[in-house]
Amino acid sequence: MGADIIIGIQWGDEGKGKIVDKLCKDYDFVCRSAGGHNAGHTIWTNGKRYALHLIPSGVLHENCTNIIGDGVVLSLEALKEEMKPFGDLKNKLFISQKAHLNLKHHSLMDLAREKMRGKKAIGTTGRGIGPCYADKVLRTGHRVFELLNPQKLCADILADFAMYEDIFKAFDIKKPNENELLEELKSYKDFFEAFITDTNLMLYKALNEGKKILIEGAQGSMLDIDHGTYPYVTSSSTTSCGALNGLGLSPKQCGKVIGIAKAYTTRVGNGAFPSEDLSEVGEKIAKIGNEIGTSTGRARRCGHFDAVAVRYAASLNGLDYLALMKLDVLDGFEKVKICKAYEYNGEVITYLPNDLENAKPIYEELEGWDKSAGIRDFDSLPKNAKNYIARIEELTKTKIKYISTSAEREDIIIL
Ligand code: IMP
Repeated sequence: MGADIIIGIQWGDEGKGKIVDKLCKDYDFVCRSAGGHNAGHTIWTNGKRYALHLIPSGVLHENCTNIIGDGVVLSLEALKEEMKPFGDLKNKLFISQKAHLNLKHHSLMDLAREKMRGKKAIGTTGRGIGPCYADKVLRTGHRVFELLNPQKLCADILADFAMYEDIFKAFDIKKPNENELLEELKSYKDFFEAFITDTNLMLYKALNEGKKILIEGAQGSMLDIDHGTYPYVTSSSTTSCGALNGLGLSPKQCGKVIGIAKAYTTRVGNGAFPSEDLSEVGEKIAKIGNEIGTSTGRARRCGHFDAVAVRYAASLNGLDYLALMKLDVLDGFEKVKICKAYEYNGEVITYLPNDLENAKPIYEELEGWDKSAGIRDFDSLPKNAKNYIARIEELTKTKIKYISTSAEREDIIIL
């Protein structure tokens, strides 16, 4: 038995948190494998809203062990803050010693670079994700286990500032005060030491013992550094293969892969979005769907379901099935649209060209429905909602197993 993976297959914010939360009770481990506190997973339970960024969603379930894996870029400051509402997480949360430290200067550099890019800004979350991964790839980063020796880590960070002085100067980032930095690192060591471990070993042991592991993907496949809409992407591998790698697991340890998609499409930040709807229809979807970013509070761009992008992401991830989220947001629309192909250079295509911004959506229009909100069994769905779901299955060539009909944990149809 391998690790099951929940993966976003649009541009992030698909509602992964709700599915992970729903499935958690059947798993012993819930793991984050990549990204950082740019991610935001919202979970509603008993009318209470939890916004998670770095902590895996298993934290809300008593029997789940939660792992922040090797591929994550970790802001100690953000994680400490996020842990506050959950009380003592010792023996419930573990952090890979190999994860990279996302330090203060990374977010300063992220913001400065975005400013320098001007019109070509990516629209990042400003959380230092790109600069931290850049340091990792340049082999100038620092890993979590280094925190266990704060004196050395402090000296090494200061040495970076001396070695790359010109770069920091260009970004107008000042060298930290040695005493302040050391005190800060010491206090993080005291706080985090009990959580830092060899999570690879933990997971191998768990798999050998037949324990059940769920990997909670972050962002979405279309934001993948290799396969997304580059350069308007995040800096990590957001696909199922990246998820395994980010935890030190091999393809042979892969279980089921579940792709999460909204019943429409959203995107935060800049970059191509062929099925974006800038009319009052898109505005209405944004309003009903409360499409505001969990991490940054930014308004999300909204549009219609893009079956071309989802089919591409389905094959990229090797999906076993799809979860279709927020179907209820489309309740009450007279017509609903699915983008089934693009017009590109005078041709009709059903793949994603590199210059996706030049692809125009070709829509299929379907009849809308009155109400799906709160429905928990498939047979009770309105006929037109069923037609919409069937058409998405056909066009994406992927079986739909879950349909979410509200933000509440129990409002879900399982097929
Ligand atoms: P970064 O990950 O902060 O570097 O941002 C790069 C791009 O990914 C921007 O367009 C962000 O809006 C987007 N992005 C990053 N994390 C998320 C997420 O969790 N949900 C949706 N979009 C995200």
